[in-house]
Amino acid sequence: MLVPTRIFQRKNILLGVTGSISAYKACSLASTLTKTGAMVRTVLTASAERFIGAMSFAGLTGDAVYTDADYWSLKMRSLHIELGRWADVVVVAPATANTMAKLSHGIADNLLTAAVLGCGKPVVIAPAMNVRMLEHPATRQNIETLRSFGYIVVEPEQGYLADGESGKGRLPKEEVLLYHIGKALIPQDLAGKTVVVTAGPTREYIDDVRYISNPSSGKMGYALAQVLALRGAKVILLSGPVQLEPPVGVEVHHFESVQEVSDLMDSYLPKADAVVMAAAVGDFTVDRVPGKIRRDKELVLNLKPTIDVVGTMKKKHPSPLYVAFAAGTAQVREDAKEKLLQKGVDAIFANRIDTPETGFSTDTNAGWFITASGEEELPLQSKADLAWSLGERIACMLKRTSGISP
Ligand SMILES: Cc1cc2nc3c(=O)[nH]c(=O)nc-3n(C[C@H](O)[C@H](O)[C@H](O)COP(=O)(O)O)c2cc1C
Repeated sequence: MLVPTRIFQRKNILLGVTGSISAYKACSLASTLTKTGAMVRTVLTASAERFIGAMSFAGLTGDAVYTDADYWSLKMRSLHIELGRWADVVVVAPATANTMAKLSHGIADNLLTAAVLGCGKPVVIAPAMNVRMLEHPATRQNIETLRSFGYIVVEPEQGYLADGESGKGRLPKEEVLLYHIGKALIPQDLAGKTVVVTAGPTREYIDDVRYISNPSSGKMGYALAQVLALRGAKVILLSGPVQLEPPVGVEVHHFESVQEVSDLMDSYLPKADAVVMAAAVGDFTVDRVPGKIRRDKELVLNLKPTIDVVGTMKKKHPSPLYVAFAAGTAQVREDAKEKLLQKGVDAIFANRIDTPETGFSTDTNAGWFITASGEEELPLQSKADLAWSLGERIACMLKRTSGISP
């Protein structure tokens, strides 16, 4: 999961579930949110109760589940207002065409619609329905109206639908929902900023079928791209060949060689406020031989150093904030401090690649965030959580360079 779990910890999430065939997927969402440390209370519409039972949500969240019977109960006064006050964010997933029509017109004839109308909190709506229901002008118009209220309406996905149909209308993947819920919970302190992030390995081809590369998985750069987008930045991710799903809400461009990543940086850096270089850019290249070299005799490769990407970019495009990465062994901290001075970058994250829990391909990492004013040790944690800590520091530095006090 690229969305860091810590943004949900101790948050109150009111989950509204409506009468869609995909209501069962809300169980998994409720469970995931609960596991992140959020408090999840659920409201089911009367139609949702026909698809899925209150007991499932009670068991998965360990918290209260409400239906319209509770709304009209004499025991609870103004339950809809109480729930709105309690919530940090209200999520309606899945949202039916019917519930969206009501919400777009301020109709509040059940607990869920009344709670949304009266909450005054961020609202995230995830529609799910048949493609023709979604494309009906009434639904499209209602979605636009809901967006004009400031609600986040997540676009449904294309794919297999109920009743043997396919098209747009599926409830988005959980990672997408978590991204939008997370974004609604955190300050958008990077809104208006453009950040270029590089990730993954480079490949320098020896012939048409063989190359020199490194084991970078791209996980750290992808996690960074995700947290910067969560904070509101426009993120352009320049990615080497990796086996990862693209982060949500991020523009991705692909490269293979050192020259290709340099060319992409030349295109995107002039408009960037910051550049975070987490890619493992190769230090050596070789003249590419067309075709496939035959294995009939010993082969000597003439390795040539690649261009110094960080140094070259810093000279050509001096204005963005530069955050570099240094991967190494026991000496990495000292080497990173030297690199900081030599290349004139604003910060370096130094991490070791010779311990089992840090570096290439692992899901965890640790290291030192080094700037001209000192260094800070970031302890072992998931790459998503570490990316969150680095994102905080990058946001702080960006605010300082824009003259806004953090
Ligand atoms: C089997 C079945 C599946 C349905 N699936 C959906 C759906 O995915 N999306 C939708 O908008 N409506 C769907 N409906 C229609 C809604 O359940 C219906 O409009 C209901 O009034 C919605 O009530 P609610 O919005 O209060 O939950 C479905 C109905 C049935 C019988």
